[in-house]
Amino acid sequence: MFSWLFGSKNKQGKNLQHAEAVKADFSFLGTDMHSHFIAGIDDGAQTLGDSVSLIRNMQEMGFKNIVTTPHIKFDHYPNTRETILNGLKEVQQALHENGVHIPVRAAAEYYIDDHFMQILEQEELLTIQGNELLVELSFMFEPLGLNEIMFKIQTKGYQPILAHPERYSFFHQKTEIFEQLKSRGVMLQLNTIALTGYYGKKVKDVAEELLSKGLYDYCGSDMHHPRHAETLNKVASLKIFEELKRYPFRNSRISAI
Ligand SMILES: [Fe+2]
Repeated sequence: MFSWLFGSKNKQGKNLQHAEAVKADFSFLGTDMHSHFIAGIDDGAQTLGDSVSLIRNMQEMGFKNIVTTPHIKFDHYPNTRETILNGLKEVQQALHENGVHIPVRAAAEYYIDDHFMQILEQEELLTIQGNELLVELSFMFEPLGLNEIMFKIQTKGYQPILAHPERYSFFHQKTEIFEQLKSRGVMLQLNTIALTGYYGKKVKDVAEELLSKGLYDYCGSDMHHPRHAETLNKVASLKIFEELKRYPFRNSRISAI
């Protein structure tokens, strides 16, 4: 297992709206495909000022293209295609007014519940690219019939990308489930900041394990707020950052608008 030290020169509390605080270079990824930058519709950016500030940080960290993915989680964030696409227009306008020039489009992070299974039947869903659909599970409870759910998504013509597999604690003692999911055509997305220990040591260990086994397809910031931006910046000071640069993530294949 890996045993390197974290970078120690992190600027706790430093305001990341200032460009000089940002040193990480994620240009090798090209596109970030998981974030919460649409103002006021989930637990990410709350104002258009937040949206602009966070997206400016992403641009300063070398990203060239953003697919932002608000939660669609019926009990907490009952977003629809309309709330997301209308919110996107406001963000794009605010970026333009503030001189931040980076292509941003929107998909969604679909929480798998009864509501999701319903809209899967009824609607055209928002995809990351082509037919690729970002889905997340409950952090509390292991889903019943996960294979059947993923199969159902596939029969509807989508290719599921499971968001942050490393964060589901009920899978921590049985990570072979991720190899099974991959063999069934499910893609996996790493939350980059998991590698800093941001979500805890076990999550970090599982992220490193899945990375070393080559099981990830995408790498995403899952950025909600400035603390995530600060933590993402820290990833560049980890030894594993060099491995990330060499890893064949699919992010750069996502086309710009
Ligand atoms: Fe997310």
